[in-house]
Amino acid sequence: MWNPGKAKSIEGWTALVTGAGSKGLGREIAYELATQCKVARLLLWDINAQGLEDTVADLRQRGVKIPIESRVVNLADRAQIYAGAQAIAGAVDLVRF
Ligand SMILES: NC(=O)c1ccc[n+]([C@@H]2O[C@H](COP(=O)([O-])OP(=O)(O)OC[C@H]3O[C@@H](n4cnc5c(N)ncnc54)[C@H](O)[C@@H]3O)[C@@H](O)[C@H]2O)c1
Repeated sequence: MWNPGKAKSIEGWTALVTGAGSKGLGREIAYELATQCKVARLLLWDINAQGLEDTVADLRQRGVKIPIESRVVNLADRAQIYAGAQAIAGAVDLVRF
């Protein structure tokens, strides 16, 4: 099992989570990054706009206060990935797929 306590500290980083509109892994990874790893900012990508909204609302409801930016990106579409990457160029320290 992944133990963030033993991993290199990523506190203060900006983290990009893809598939973050999921009620499953994406959402929980975002939550763990914010609460356990103490990243400074979350960037959330998913193809599902409603899923992203729900994830942001859930994270807020669970007390996550750091800046969160969500974006609809279809990871099967190269142009959308490039557009999303351009919008955050230089800002991301960690990408978790
Ligand atoms: N849940 C588990 O226990 C588990 C275990 C091992 C591996 N996995 C794998 O990890 C991945 C995520 O699991 P999950 O439970 O969160 O799945 P999920 O289906 O709940 O979430 C997948 C997310 O990816 C998004 N998505 C789908 N196609 C996309 C696209 N083209 N562009 C952008 N976003 C897209 C969906 O909208 C959804 O929000 C899956 O591939 C799953 O097979 C899951």
